[in-house]
Amino acid sequence: MRLAKYILLGALIPGAAFAWPWSTDMVNQPNVKPQEGVMALFPARSIPVQGVATQVANRDEAKDLVNPIPASAESIKEGRTLFRIICAACHGLTGGAESPVSNKIGAIALNDDYVQKMLTEGWVWGTITFGSAIMPAYGKPSSREDQRGANDLTVEERWHIVNYVKHGLMKEAPPAVRAAAAANQ
Ligand code: HEC
Repeated sequence: MRLAKYILLGALIPGAAFAWPWSTDMVNQPNVKPQEGVMALFPARSIPVQGVATQVANRDEAKDLVNPIPASAESIKEGRTLFRIICAACHGLTGGAESPVSNKIGAIALNDDYVQKMLTEGWVWGTITFGSAIMPAYGKPSSREDQRGANDLTVEERWHIVNYVKHGLMKEAPPAVRAAAAANQ
């Protein structure tokens, strides 16, 4: 009877029950604890590494960056969607500076020789990241003195947009623009 009373008491007071030696039995297993011993190398491809290193401080440093994302059909499609959401408001749906505000704010056409031939892909990426004279930053607004912009485009998304601007925009340009570009070659 007395034993039963103690068992009942132990069951009713879990705090006291934890004091028994068996409470920690499961912790003390012959296994390697976190931070214990020499860390084994991770098996190949077991750590999800996303993103690409882009430790550049400004657009000048970005100029010679090599685009790490191939201009595949998927990348261009992703870039096109983002372009239409973010860039088109100022640069026009076709990138020809035909939006109602393009002229008012001086948003240049992106489908002419200046952007298509003279600007490097790194520079275009840098422009999206850090902004330009008037254009806000879409990667690192905190690097601007006026802090204008948003940081809602990931590094990869910015390269997708570069792929669209450099490899997709002209294919969709109005016939007159394409003819002019062809005549210029
Ligand atoms: C709020 C309006 C606005 C938005 C949105 C905008 N731009 Fe611009 N962009 C401008 C203006 C204005 C200029 C020209 C003056 C300047 O350089 O700031 C410009 C210039 C540029 C240039 C030329 C930079 C140079 O060196 O001359 C590129 C390339 C460009 N924009 C790409 C983009 C892309 C790609 C997007 C979308 C991610 C985008 N812009 C979104 C306003 C905008």
